[in-house]
Amino acid sequence: MPGLLEGKIVAVTGGASGIGEAACRLAAAEGASVAVLDIDEARADEVAADINAGSGTAKAWPLDVRDADNIESTIAAVEADLGPLDGMVASAGILQVPRGPEHTDLEVYDAVTAVNQRGVYLSCASAGKRMAVRGSGSIVTIASIAGMRAMPLHAYSPTKAAVISITQNLAVEWGRSGVRVNAVAPGFTLTPALQDAIDKGERDPSTISNNTALGRLVTAAEIADAVCFLLSDNATAITGITLPVDAGWLVAPSWHTYGGPPGPRGNHGAA
Ligand SMILES: NC(=O)c1ccc[n+]([C@@H]2O[C@H](COP(=O)([O-])OP(=O)(O)OC[C@H]3O[C@@H](n4cnc5c(N)ncnc54)[C@H](O)[C@@H]3O)[C@@H](O)[C@H]2O)c1
Repeated sequence: MPGLLEGKIVAVTGGASGIGEAACRLAAAEGASVAVLDIDEARADEVAADINAGSGTAKAWPLDVRDADNIESTIAAVEADLGPLDGMVASAGILQVPRGPEHTDLEVYDAVTAVNQRGVYLSCASAGKRMAVRGSGSIVTIASIAGMRAMPLHAYSPTKAAVISITQNLAVEWGRSGVRVNAVAPGFTLTPALQDAIDKGERDPSTISNNTALGRLVTAAEIADAVCFLLSDNATAITGITLPVDAGWLVAPSWHTYGGPPGPRGNHGAA
């Protein structure tokens, strides 16, 4: 049976780690030729080499999404090498330490905004304008539940709300040109970035799990499943949406007013 993305050309920013890496691996497993784009050139090379060592096809390019010229030349180089892009995933992003505004340095604010907001816009604009001229393509941005609810992340959360807005605007901008643009909004996903924050005491996995309907964190592979679905021809009428993949974080916290989400019923087939 052909893969979900058989024969497609897909580029992934932030493809060297976490959600981007999982998207690269799944897209390749589903038959796409994948461009692994990341500021961490060595790790991007490793991911591409690993995919090629399996049965997939991938190639790495160094990319800094803060640099508009770098994005333009890299997307051009990817298309010259692999062919016209069918899919683009904008996953490059950085987290922040939860802090009040009094303790949020402007450098941190600007750094997070440059990568998460400006970088996503520039990446989508560069890939999307080429797709629009050709009349087809699918873009998936990686937003966050942090862009949908209040959090003590005064730099990060607004960038993710902006990603949702960028996604909606571009979906309408290029809809009649055959280009779909959707966002996936991950919940707390156990990637190297989140693990690092947990290790530093900046996030608490048990508090996170306790605030989800499913009682657990999300895996990067589960985010990649949603990304590849939205990239694929199984989603041809879907554009402009933000799809939460959050283990039920958006719905569960209000239940703490009533003692929290209930525990499991029954013994689930256990002896
Ligand atoms: N992990 C989570 O819980 C979570 C939740 C919601 C949203 N997200 C979002 O998912 C995306 C991926 O996060 P992750 O958890 O996989 O993190 P990660 O750190 O594992 O991966 C992020 C990748 O982006 C790359 N990157 C950083 N700055 C870059 C730049 N200027 N140019 C190009 N590449 C750059 C990094 O080198 C890294 O490979 C981010 O946009 C993040 O905000 C993550």
